[in-house]
Amino acid sequence: MRQPRIVIVDPAGATGLAYGRIVARLQPLEVQHASSVPAGISLVTADSFDIAVLVARDGIPALEMLTPLVAADPDLPVVVVDAAPSAEQTRSCLRQGAADYLPLEAADRELEGALEHALTASRRRSSEQALRRAVERPYSFEDFLGESPPMRQVYALIERVASSGVDVLITGETGTGKELVARAVHRRSRRADGPFVPIDCGAIPDALLESELFGHERGAFTGADARRIGLIEVADGGTLFLDEVAELPAALQAKLLRVLQERRVRRVGARKETPVDVRVVAATSRAIDAMVEQGTFRRDLYYRINVVRISLPPLRERGDDIGLLAELFASRAGREMGRTAGRLSTDAYQVLRHYHWPGNVRELQNVVRRAMALAPGDVAGVDDLPDEIVAAAGGQADSIAETGDGFFAKRAAHVARFERQYLVDLLNQLKGDVSAAAKLAQVPRGTLYRLLKAHGLDPAQFRAE
Ligand SMILES: Nc1ncnc2c1ncn2[C@@H]1O[C@H](COP(=O)(O)OP(=O)(O)OP(=O)(O)O)[C@@H](O)[C@H]1O
Ligand SMILES: [Mg+2]
Repeated sequence: MRQPRIVIVDPAGATGLAYGRIVARLQPLEVQHASSVPAGISLVTADSFDIAVLVARDGIPALEMLTPLVAADPDLPVVVVDAAPSAEQTRSCLRQGAADYLPLEAADRELEGALEHALTASRRRSSEQALRRAVERPYSFEDFLGESPPMRQVYALIERVASSGVDVLITGETGTGKELVARAVHRRSRRADGPFVPIDCGAIPDALLESELFGHERGAFTGADARRIGLIEVADGGTLFLDEVAELPAALQAKLLRVLQERRVRRVGARKETPVDVRVVAATSRAIDAMVEQGTFRRDLYYRINVVRISLPPLRERGDDIGLLAELFASRAGREMGRTAGRLSTDAYQVLRHYHWPGNVRELQNVVRRAMALAPGDVAGVDDLPDEIVAAAGGQADSIAETGDGFFAKRAAHVARFERQYLVDLLNQLKGDVSAAAKLAQVPRGTLYRLLKAHGLDPAQFRAE
């Protein structure tokens, strides 16, 4: 089992803490320090910790510090140490979800016990989580997998909005799960027994889109030899999912706006309008706000569909979700392919975690599935990943360090940079002779090759001209 990780949020900083000795006695523990709540939040959202100690001093009420930390990671046990303890703070911190509450002056004696207690509780919880994972039910919501704080916010928003019946706009890069959101909103709404009707506005030729959406009367145009009900009417009593709504041509934008305002639809060639009872959930992967500014998407329609906005974060901003999803996709793919299991090597995980995933969850799913298909046994390694991803993940390390999403990402980026420089020096010294380099570095040749590949280095470049 990995050693427990603890994060200490203390405005007084990491030095000269009375409880430093206590923490040291609790070894083996990996301790990270943060000198403010925002710094603590960026640590706990970037990586998983087992426990947090929050020290309230300098007149800032403990509850004020605790609340945002709990919101950022509701499952993290937080032991509060208060320099200005009071019964009222005790009660409100515990009610807010603190694992324990200690006055600073008692910390010397009692912190050790409090931490041990909270750690035991957190271990029990994580073994329960491991058990749940083993039976393929990790923390999940509807068909979503992933438990990162930004995704939890999405789940909470879906839950709140679904039953309200208001129209929803879902935005997010390709493959982030917009359609899953739309279906979840429908399933959790009072319309769940009604139809869910998806239409991809970008995939249907403009000429056909109007009659697809609005339907037509017999003889409305050449070829209209029978009356046809449009998808808006088909969705009556249910949810109409307008996917890639930004692709709607201007004329249809105007027509759709009327439907949303009047809740009536006029079939092409019809004189009368038919009342419809639909909820519209729209989605787009385009920067629709910019399109409104540029005048390519109607502002009034935008306001009408943007009643509630659910924005899906790109996968690269979901912290540990990449690892979790990769693990689950690998085990599913392995079993589907008739293996006893499906796993990824530690190196392969590292590559996946550093890649920037422009195609998001869909891309990750495909890459893992392909890797499992290529793997000779139950475990897929770096060699089973596409070269572009391995190379890009190596180069990506630099930009992660700049844009950074917390200490661990930055540390990983720095390590990767040092590793790359070491490899470059080694190859320069030995003029691209991989066998000699492997001997000098005391690693198997295969390992060295893999590292070179991961960093996008070609030994041939180092051979003497
Ligand atoms: N959080 C998630 N957990 C598990 N599977 C997911 C998750 N998000 C997306 N997927 C899967 O990834 C694929 C893409 O999801 P979806 O079609 O909802 O994305 P999208 O945002 O609509 O993409 P596009 O813009 O390309 O249409 C689907 O197979 C979906 O099941
Ligand atoms: Mg989609």
